[in-house]
Amino acid sequence: MTIPSRVRIFEVGARDGLQNEKQMVPSDIKVELIERLVDAGVTAIETGSFVSPKWVPQMADTADVMAKLSRRKGVTYAVLTPNMKGYEGAIASGADEIEIFSAAAEMFNKRNINCSIAESLERFVPVTEAAKAAGIPYRASISCALGSPFDEEVTLETIADVAKKLYDMGAYEVSIGDTIGVGTPIRTKQVIEAVANVIPLDVIGVHFHDTYGQALANYLAALEMGISKLDSSVAGLGGCPYAPGATGNVATEDVVYMLEGMGIDSGLDLKKLVKIAWFISDYLGRPPVSSVARALKDKVG
Ligand code: HMG
Ligand code: MG
Repeated sequence: MTIPSRVRIFEVGARDGLQNEKQMVPSDIKVELIERLVDAGVTAIETGSFVSPKWVPQMADTADVMAKLSRRKGVTYAVLTPNMKGYEGAIASGADEIEIFSAAAEMFNKRNINCSIAESLERFVPVTEAAKAAGIPYRASISCALGSPFDEEVTLETIADVAKKLYDMGAYEVSIGDTIGVGTPIRTKQVIEAVANVIPLDVIGVHFHDTYGQALANYLAALEMGISKLDSSVAGLGGCPYAPGATGNVATEDVVYMLEGMGIDSGLDLKKLVKIAWFISDYLGRPPVSSVARALKDKVG
C-alpha cells in the first residue's frame, strides 16, 4: 500500500476540541473559530453536537452556532448526533451531514451515551434511515478502538464487528477513534488491518487523541497503510468528558506540518492554522499544546 499524496483533514476543534471546556465559550467565538478554519482551507468541519445539554453543557448552543455561521460553498458543516432527538436538531439547524458514534468498549459506551454497544447500534437505525431518506450523508466513529479508560479489554474482533455494522448501516466513513490517546503504531496497524478485512480501506478514517504523545506516529502508521481521512483539532484542543484522563486530539497544525514535510497535500494553510491556534488558546487563557503552534508563533506574522 502506498502513502496517499493527498489527504482530507476533518477538523473537530469546535466540537471535540471545545466539548470538554468547563468555561462556557460564547457562540460568537465558536463561529469565529469555524469561519477562520474554513478560511485556512478546511473543507470538512464539526461545528458542534446535538447531545443532551445536561451531559455536555458546552455544546448546548450548537443550533445558535449553526444559525450564526456564514457558510461557504463546498464546505461540509457536520454535527454529532447520538439519537433521533439529536438528528432532528441537526436537520433543523441545516447541518450538511451527521456523525453517529458507538464504541469498541462496553463500559465506555455506557458512560458516554448511557447504553450498550448493541443498543447504540439499534438506536442509530432510525437515525440512519431518516438520514438516508433525506439524503443526508453520515459518517460513524468507533470510540476506544485502541483502549478504554476503564478496566476492560478492547479486542480486534469487537472493533471489526462494530465497524462492519456501522458500514452496513450506510456510513460513508468509519472513523477509528483513539479516544484516550493510548495507541502505538504497531497496534494502530493491527486495528486498521482488522477493520480493512471487513470494510473497504478507502472508507476508513482515523481520529486520534494525543494523550500519550503517540498520535503523529500513529497517523504515520495509518498513512503507511493507505489511510487518507484524518481527524484533528486546531491547537490540540479536546477531550471527552466521559473518558477520564483523555486530553486533546492531535493538533491540526502538527499534522499539517508533518504532511507538508512528507509532500502530502492537505489543502490547509499552516500559517493561518498557527494563528487560529493562538487565537483560540488566547481566548481560553493557556498556550496551545501543539509544538508546531509554539515553534511558529513568532514566525507567522
Ligand atoms: P439519557 O439520559 O439516557 O437519555 O442520555 P434519555 O433518552 O433518557 O433522555 C434524557 C433527557 O435527555 C431527556 O430530557 C431528553 O429529552 C434529553 P428531560 O426529559 O430529562 O428534560 N435528550 C436530549 N437533549 C438534547 N439532545 C439530544 C437528547 N437526547 C435526549 N440528542 C444521551 C442519552 C445519548 C442523550 C446522553 O448520554 C448524551 O447526550 N451523551 C452524549 C455524550 C457526548 O456527547 N460525549 C462526547 C462525544 S463522543 C466523543 O467525544 C468521542 C469521539 O470524538 C470519537 C473518539 O474520540 O474516539 C466522537
Ligand atoms: Mg474524540
